Amino acid sequence: MKLNIAVLSGDGIGPEVTAQSIKVLKAIALQFNHTFVFKEAVVGAIAIDKTGNPLPDKTLELCKSADAILFGAIGDPKYDNDPSAKVRPEQGLLKLRKVLGLYANIRPVKAYETLLDKSPLKRHIIEGTDISIYRELTGGIYFGEKQLSEDGNTASDLCEYSRFEIERIAHLAFKAAQTRRKKLTLVDKANVLESSRLWRRVVTELASEYPDIRLEFLFVDNAAMQMILNPSQFDVILTENMFGDIISDEASVIGGSIGLLASASIGDEHAMFEPIHGSYPQATGKGIANPIASILSAALLLEHFGLHEEAKLIDQAVEKSLKLQITTPDLNDATEKISTSKVGNFIEDFINNPTDSNKNFVNIHLGQSTII
Ligand code: IPM
Ligand code: MG
Repeated sequence: MKLNIAVLSGDGIGPEVTAQSIKVLKAIALQFNHTFVFKEAVVGAIAIDKTGNPLPDKTLELCKSADAILFGAIGDPKYDNDPSAKVRPEQGLLKLRKVLGLYANIRPVKAYETLLDKSPLKRHIIEGTDISIYRELTGGIYFGEKQLSEDGNTASDLCEYSRFEIERIAHLAFKAAQTRRKKLTLVDKANVLESSRLWRRVVTELASEYPDIRLEFLFVDNAAMQMILNPSQFDVILTENMFGDIISDEASVIGGSIGLLASASIGDEHAMFEPIHGSYPQATGKGIANPIASILSAALLLEHFGLHEEAKLIDQAVEKSLKLQITTPDLNDATEKISTSKVGNFIEDFINNPTDSNKNFVNIHLGQSTII
């Protein structure tokens, strides 16, 4: 298969982690005889520095013409600490989502057996957790009308949803549940918000088309609590934009590190793949950022194009690296630090030698391999 992939590695640790997933995708292309063409463009703070615009036209054009987008991270503390900044890196990402119509953000959350003791949550609570969060990504309070009064003392953000916006992602979430454990939980705040009541009504109506799916409802405050009390109760979670943003960060604690969570942002014409973590500016250039979220995002990219075997090989390589503790310091207390690129090299090596790389594992683990 030939794929044109736009690479928007962005700010902070974005470039470091994205470099690892490109390495991994190149190894996949070699093993499975695919042609992946990578073209890079700037986005976020780096794009503001270069062009004054967090999403330059050239970047947008590249994304529009690509088959898929591999995204790194955006954000810079100089904007976070300046509430009056008119141009912000995040605007680049939000505009990209909106213009490309990437309405469904899918965030898988899994408790890896080998990492159960890395989570601050107790092993017996997180064991067996396997959740797929379907977060609506182009509507709601993120994109509603924003106002600031002239005297600067009153502000508002409108949360608006239409039936159409709810239906299209709800169908995807129901269909995903059909391939999984057949349970769908709608997370909302229908006891307070009119927009949430619309979500409930529309999703309840659609449920009759999916009689095999058990549909449940949870208020978002309760869902936040359930996520850490009993996360394995969830299968597919469907929710609006901001609730999904918040509970997916919360859910990342289950895996032991936010550096593990990948995501796919899907629309009818375009698809983008990105780790859920941010630009982690404190870690930039130190080689300590976990590349696995980006690498698993690359696996989701392959999955999106039906390359299941290829995606599975990446998943296996990641599991092996976790098992052997070839992991960055967020998951590894060893005094000898394993760097971002070493993790990437290990996963690349596994893909290049899926059958015979076992012999290298011990050496790699001890940092003595000639391969890395
Ligand atoms: C995410 C991020 C973004 C969001 C930010 C960077 C705008 O937190 O992808 O979860 O809020 O959607
Ligand atoms: Mg977020």
